[in-house]
Amino acid sequence: MNVPNFCLLDNPLVKNKVSLLRDKGCTCDNFRKLATELSAFLCYEACKDVKMIPYKLETPLEETDGVRFPPVAFVSILRAGLGMLSGALRCIPEASVGHIGMFRNEETLEPVKYYCKLPKNMHESVVFVMDPMLATGGSACDAIAEIKKEGAKDIRFLCLIAAPEGVQKLYKNHPDVKIYAASLDRELNSKGYILPGLGDAGDRVFNTV
Ligand code: PRP
Ligand code: URA
Repeated sequence: MNVPNFCLLDNPLVKNKVSLLRDKGCTCDNFRKLATELSAFLCYEACKDVKMIPYKLETPLEETDGVRFPPVAFVSILRAGLGMLSGALRCIPEASVGHIGMFRNEETLEPVKYYCKLPKNMHESVVFVMDPMLATGGSACDAIAEIKKEGAKDIRFLCLIAAPEGVQKLYKNHPDVKIYAASLDRELNSKGYILPGLGDAGDRVFNTV
């Protein structure tokens, strides 16, 4: 797959945690724990090219150079994106948090937006959008379009599992958005589920099967 903006976390630690996460025997509490850990790794990777702000600080011994973050906004796509939020907040605890509610129409697979509340300063923020599953890409594309309406210019998309179809669609619609994934899976099935995938991410995070 030739998508220049796509970054797959290539690390045994990540591969092991994805294996444990997608196992159908993974309990709800372990699923939450693993999703949190993987989200922190994704956030770590997605921070690599953030333009930090330099400042001077005093150690107990002398003055030295420090860096701090520009404004950061995390946007969680409800519901399942909530399962990634605490991992991201562990990395950047001062981030503002927005939410976009989306569900897929089960027949058409088209996303339906039902909620949107974003921080005020999106135009000057580094925005990390999070949703565990990038399947057809419809939800991610629409969510990012909403975020761009608020003037956001620096947007990164974080997911646990991506399907090639979703990566291609997101790149085609938003070529400026870099995509970070813990796994690139094989394909979608006829119902738009990722194979091998992990099933319905929202149900697994919230134990609502
Ligand atoms: C899941 C997932 C994504 C979407 C991905 O949400 O969390 O938001 O599907 O599919 P797509 O790439 O084909 O749009 P779902 O619709 O199941 O809602 P939920 O999180 O409320 O369960
Ligand atoms: N949404 C999910 O939760 N899982 C998939 O495999 C695809 C979309």
